[in-house]
Amino acid sequence: MTPETQNSASAISGALLTGEFAFSDANFREIARIAKSEAGIDLPYSKATLVYSRLAKRLRALGIRSFSDYCVTVRESDEERNSMIAALTTNVTRFFREPHHFEHLRTEIIAPLVESARRGNRVRLWSAACSTGQEPYSMALTVLSVIPEAASLDVRILATDLNPHVVAHGRKGCYQKDELGDVPPALRAKWFAADLESAGGTTMRVADDVRSLVSFHELNLMGPWNFKGPFDAIFCRNVVIYFDRETQNTIWKRLAGLLKENGALYIGHSERVGGPANALLSSDGITTYRKKGGRNP
Ligand SMILES: C[S@@+](CC[C@H](N)C(=O)[O-])C[C@H]1O[C@@H](n2cnc3c(N)ncnc32)[C@H](O)[C@@H]1O
Repeated sequence: MTPETQNSASAISGALLTGEFAFSDANFREIARIAKSEAGIDLPYSKATLVYSRLAKRLRALGIRSFSDYCVTVRESDEERNSMIAALTTNVTRFFREPHHFEHLRTEIIAPLVESARRGNRVRLWSAACSTGQEPYSMALTVLSVIPEAASLDVRILATDLNPHVVAHGRKGCYQKDELGDVPPALRAKWFAADLESAGGTTMRVADDVRSLVSFHELNLMGPWNFKGPFDAIFCRNVVIYFDRETQNTIWKRLAGLLKENGALYIGHSERVGGPANALLSSDGITTYRKKGGRNP
């Protein structure tokens, strides 16, 4: 343990042991080890307070009195282990986050594929950590802005995430009105309608033609990927930031391997492609990469 982690560790035993639930250094290390091995999530000691507050909700829900007892439950129950991982994930997202990616998708990827798609050829996109669905639906809206009849063509967007709760949310396709502020007004007017099942008319539902383009599935990026692609574009944004460098580089390489020649990889604003994937990809703008090869679709 470095002096820095030692200091933080004693801060944990001091501050967190006096909280609602006993939380020891050993508890933190066990939870961090599981998060890393199961989901790639790297939890340095600086995240101890965050871990405590996110998992305290699980302890309350289960009527458990200490983190030591919670660790026993997690050891014995695959279901609680998955719930723990889901509780530790950060799901912040929004429609058209980092709008330059959607502009690039529209002009550099989808526009050149229009004729090919209309002739019946496949167009495949992947949102590789889709959270509650705003990212894959922004991709779908971008496609529809260029190919309004995309739902009747062989155009599909795969949307995956580790956390089953966010996948279910995305599949439902319902959002509060104030979440749609970044959706261009013309697309908002055309592709969203008030959700008649919601009280007060504050919830909007994504239109069926948008929903039918997107297929949501649970997928842990650390596990096997049971699909071959290839993809015209992959969004893998603001997820590998939680992984260590070696894991990041493995993910970049696997993603690059699934891209079509000249396909695009979009990554988070604070992320950089590293490792062997650099030999397969070239930069094509801010946090945007293209699979090396010819320029024609
Ligand atoms: C901050 S959100 C990013 C959402 C979206 N890509 C964006 O940029 O707005 C990170 C997502 O990564 C997911 N995640 C974390 N670890 C994962 C893993 N090992 N496999 C798949 N998804 C993971 C989380 O559940 C969360 O929904």
